[in-house]
Amino acid sequence: MTKDTSNAMWGGRFAAGPDAIMEAINASIGFDKRLAAQDIQGSRAHAAMLASAGILTDSDAEAIREGLLTVLSEIEAGTFQFSTALEDIHMNVESRLKEIIGEPAGRLHTARSRNDQVATDFKLWVRDQMDAAIAGIEALIRALLVQAEAGAAWVMPGFTHLQTAQPVTWGHHMMAYVEMFGRDMSRFRDARARMNECPLGAAALAGTSFPIDRHMTAEALGFDRPSANSLDAVSDRDFALEFLAASTICAMHLSRFAEELVIWSSAQFRFVVLSDRFSTGSSIMPQKKNPDAAELIRAKIGRIMGAMVALFTVMKGLPLAYSKDMQEDKEQVFDAADSLMLALAAMEGMVKDMTANRAALEVAAASGFSTATDLADWLVRALDMPFREAHHVTGSLVALAEQKGCDLPELSLDDMQSVCAKITDEVFGVLGVHNSVASRTSYGGTAPEQVRAQIARWKEVLG
Ligand code: ARG
Repeated sequence: MTKDTSNAMWGGRFAAGPDAIMEAINASIGFDKRLAAQDIQGSRAHAAMLASAGILTDSDAEAIREGLLTVLSEIEAGTFQFSTALEDIHMNVESRLKEIIGEPAGRLHTARSRNDQVATDFKLWVRDQMDAAIAGIEALIRALLVQAEAGAAWVMPGFTHLQTAQPVTWGHHMMAYVEMFGRDMSRFRDARARMNECPLGAAALAGTSFPIDRHMTAEALGFDRPSANSLDAVSDRDFALEFLAASTICAMHLSRFAEELVIWSSAQFRFVVLSDRFSTGSSIMPQKKNPDAAELIRAKIGRIMGAMVALFTVMKGLPLAYSKDMQEDKEQVFDAADSLMLALAAMEGMVKDMTANRAALEVAAASGFSTATDLADWLVRALDMPFREAHHVTGSLVALAEQKGCDLPELSLDDMQSVCAKITDEVFGVLGVHNSVASRTSYGGTAPEQVRAQIARWKEVLG
């Protein structure tokens, strides 16, 4: 009896090819072709190691390594014919290698499985994306530092509950985001250091009886060491989850900043003018200039966090070691990485181009009784009043100003003394917004000198 050879890959064991629906649900080539360069890099390192360990002849290994470069150039040139019947990038590459170099291609898969292969490929890909994220965040931080330095002493309202709280400086506000994105950068760095162990050589799950040198492949691929447990090596996707978690937090920061830019660029606030290059018009309302880039950045968290939740859900409850469920990891990470890099680049561009409306910021800084805390602090310092009492007196003065329809500095000394007889005209010195911010010299405070010190520190950190 002759076997049905219609099963392209498993003809030895399988009599028939897969059902069309089976092929559709099973194949990952539609998306994992993005791992082609990493797959070939991993295979080249594997072949070199097999030869050095005496498992492959030098000439076979050389043919494999050269042939893989040809495959890579075909993929890069767009002439490679991807086949769904061959399931995934690993089988597609190997099959084409066979066409190009013949018999030695069949020796490449010695002492390896697609389980350690895909874990290796995917780690290499995610590692690159961590580096890209770090670079993208650094570029954004540099743009923020330029804004912060220009406006280290510009005053603007600081908010809590989106209600006027105390005056702060523009530089201080920009530097708050520098801190947030700085933590994001360190999260990616931490994750990168933790994930940098090489799964290759774990084989299917148990390791291999061939005398391979896992340290050699680990080093060739830029890993710090081989992973120490073969079961863990093929079933671990923590690196992808950590990438998604760090991406989600970063996307959340981007979203918060984007939201501020949307508010700030509105006609009601006019705190910033976004450039035409990062805005769009309306098809019906000629006056409109919409902050679409900011809005889209604000929204990207949705798909990035969605990807994180999706992959956690895939991974939970999976028994050791590899299960095909794990093939569902890639599209989530690909989409999240694309979204994050785009959002970071768009935010960098917007920050570089945006102009703070210094005059509007200054007017807004003085409104809403923003120096009430300065007044209360003055009562404590100058009159030795307990803070709670000072808080009460200031509250009465705010109520009085509100009743008169004016701001605190516009109250007369008589008005002030009608609430608290001991107040002197020295009080007016603390009611101005510039004095207010200049007085907040505590470490990390909003005073221009503190802001400048933080800018200098960050410049040194970034080099
Ligand atoms: N395409 C597969 C994936 O992405 C590769 C690993 C397949 N391994 C297996 N035992 N079927 O996970």
